[in-house]
Amino acid sequence: MMESDDMTVGELYDEYVAPTYGRFSIHPRRGKGTQLWDEEGKRYLDFGAGVAVNSLGHAHPALLEVFERQPADLLHCSNLYQPRGQAELARILIEDIVKSRGKCFFSNSGTEANEGLIKLARRFGEAVPSSSGKPRRDIISFLGSFHGRSTGAMAATGQEKVRAGFGPLMSNFVHLPFNDIEALRAGLTEDSVAILLEAVQGEGGVRIATPEFLAAAAEICRERNMLLLLDEVQCGMGRCGELNGWHAIGDTSGIVPDGISWAKGLGGGFPIGAIWFRDRPAGEVSLCDLLGPGSHGATYGGSPLGCALGKVVIETIVSERLTENAGMLCGKILHEANSRSLPMISGVRGLGLMIGFQIDPDAVAGAGGFTGESKAASVIVVEALAEAGLLTVPAGSDVVRWLPPLVVTQAEVDEAFEIMEKVLNKLIE
Ligand SMILES: Cc1ncc(COP(=O)(O)O)c(C=O)c1O
Repeated sequence: MMESDDMTVGELYDEYVAPTYGRFSIHPRRGKGTQLWDEEGKRYLDFGAGVAVNSLGHAHPALLEVFERQPADLLHCSNLYQPRGQAELARILIEDIVKSRGKCFFSNSGTEANEGLIKLARRFGEAVPSSSGKPRRDIISFLGSFHGRSTGAMAATGQEKVRAGFGPLMSNFVHLPFNDIEALRAGLTEDSVAILLEAVQGEGGVRIATPEFLAAAAEICRERNMLLLLDEVQCGMGRCGELNGWHAIGDTSGIVPDGISWAKGLGGGFPIGAIWFRDRPAGEVSLCDLLGPGSHGATYGGSPLGCALGKVVIETIVSERLTENAGMLCGKILHEANSRSLPMISGVRGLGLMIGFQIDPDAVAGAGGFTGESKAASVIVVEALAEAGLLTVPAGSDVVRWLPPLVVTQAEVDEAFEIMEKVLNKLIE
């Protein structure tokens, strides 16, 4: 085998890895809790957590214990059989997270989970057609949303830059303005079969659905026998201070989704995704029965290792009261952000540990740190923060996200603010 010792990590990427990401020159080597060290031994505070994935932080003992135990028993087995762990994780998702009767299907990622919801909506539209007898096919999603990069999930995504150059995409997606109840009602037709939304848009810049908008979406779905599909891939699993992201928004007691997708935080770093669909009528049968044998699948989906990890992630979120930690720290973060000197930041918003810092374009225009740069303001800020030891994530061109592990401490939040304050003040010089 060819040795690569004569090449730097950057050179290896340039030569061998497809350039699909605008990657920062950071070479992570190991992590512990909220901290990460690179190849050169530099320490970072990891407030990106693999884009909301490392929910328990790095190297959590509960996850390490599963990695030691489960592969020795059974790493993978076919979905032609019935490994106990998969059904147990489904039971936990249904009984302890959603708390509403239904069934789960397991995938490997958020994109695949959303593909499952899209297929479910297609089947539902066949089972419950429009009054003219035509299958209902239109899925409503929202501008600014992100649902994945497969041809279906990309078509659902309400961002032109994600879809550009890949057409023709899967048809029958209608993108409407987010949080605009009037536009939502006006966009409905006989063909509308489902509404797909993130309660908090992540890639769209931490934009929070209003309780009124969510309630209106739920009401429309009830009135018109449509499916309410919630993409909890980024905002679910405790990230927003509640096990269910949409519960963090306010009074959402009347909102019962028909389908939910999860991934990211569910595996704590191991790729696993899931969907849940409600036990409710779909024509002659239950919605739970629409994806029958042969209609859907994933070779690796719901593997014994993935499911054992998912179970331990949820158990740890509950036993370590991590949703409470997220909720408590959110209040402090929003308060602190407003009392610190954070130049160029025109606003801060968020729920739990999903926080968006809005960059003010006018302030950037006059700031020395940005002159002559062709990169987006968010990327410049994220790069400067990383240089100073704080990892964050850009969202679009003008939002910087904090998505720390749910185990993050107040002391680490304080340290992150110290770094951010110093870096932003330097950037405007
Ligand atoms: C809300 C949401 N849905 C879906 C996805 C796609 O998930 P994955 O990258 O695991 O396929 C993402 C990824 O960022 C996301 O934020």
